[in-house]
Amino acid sequence: MNARKLALITGASSGLGVALAEDLARRGYDLILTARSEAPLQDLAERLRQSLKVAVTVAASDLSVPGSVAGLAARLDGQGLQPSALIANAGFGINQPFVDHDPARLTAMLQLNIVSLSEMARVYGARMARAGSGHIMLVASIAAFQATPLLGAYGASKAFVLSLGEALHVELAPKVGVTVLCPGFMETGFGAVAGFNPNEMTRRTALPAAKVARIGVDAMLRGEAVVVAGGANKAMVAASRLIPRMTAARIAYKASGGGSFKR
Ligand SMILES: NC(=O)c1ccc[n+]([C@@H]2O[C@H](COP(=O)([O-])OP(=O)(O)OC[C@H]3O[C@@H](n4cnc5c(N)ncnc54)[C@H](OP(=O)(O)O)[C@@H]3O)[C@@H](O)[C@H]2O)c1
Repeated sequence: MNARKLALITGASSGLGVALAEDLARRGYDLILTARSEAPLQDLAERLRQSLKVAVTVAASDLSVPGSVAGLAARLDGQGLQPSALIANAGFGINQPFVDHDPARLTAMLQLNIVSLSEMARVYGARMARAGSGHIMLVASIAAFQATPLLGAYGASKAFVLSLGEALHVELAPKVGVTVLCPGFMETGFGAVAGFNPNEMTRRTALPAAKVARIGVDAMLRGEAVVVAGGANKAMVAASRLIPRMTAARIAYKASGGGSFKR
């Protein structure tokens, strides 16, 4: 394990991933940044090298491609880079009636949100367990706690992330800490990519990505299993547990624009 702290961050070209990179760099972490878009990764890397004097490696990769995690890990091994923290943040959603999902896009989402995230956690979790220390953050969503009609497969992918993270928190304790970060709506690239145009109430609960990143990293360093970002989101998750699951699902349907889709 490196003497300096080194964090591998997926989805670091935009939104929450950028905020996580900035937050970890401020805390003295060297970084490995990955996403598909190389130019924004290089810009962020240069900015953080200049402003915070941290070492930053860029390794662009399309994690929706089967085998991409093994390829990325091999590239990083070739450069002698062994992360002491894994931040599995890359993900996207599809906001549309499930039966209208494009099959290739659905497969890519599940590959990214579920399969590659699991592979990342397995590859680096095993190494951290052998080394006797490490941190893993898996980025889920408040969508993980209930069914989310119109974002159904996305919500199900985040329920997978939450469940896997809770299991790994127990399996890898006490030496490797595993934390699931569950943000609510943030004004990032997520909405445009997913085709998600939230209602006014959801927009009012939006937190800046920088704040969500700080909440997530604080929780990771404290060794918490699950953190829901923000008071309003915590209240929504708590309330969704008190009402019947199908009532919660119908409320989520309205929040995603239920009824407004032409078929
Ligand atoms: N924003 C929200 O409202 C919200 C709420 C709850 C949870 N989340 C979760 O937060 C995480 C970050 O999302 P965000 O809000 O920051 O959205 P974002 O701004 O769209 O960022 C998504 C990141 O994932 C990367 N990514 C997408 N497809 C990829 C692929 N095939 N291979 C590798 N990287 C890929 C993107 O980079 P490239 O396009 O360059 O590949 C980008 O860096 C996601 O897991 C999301 O589900 C978001």
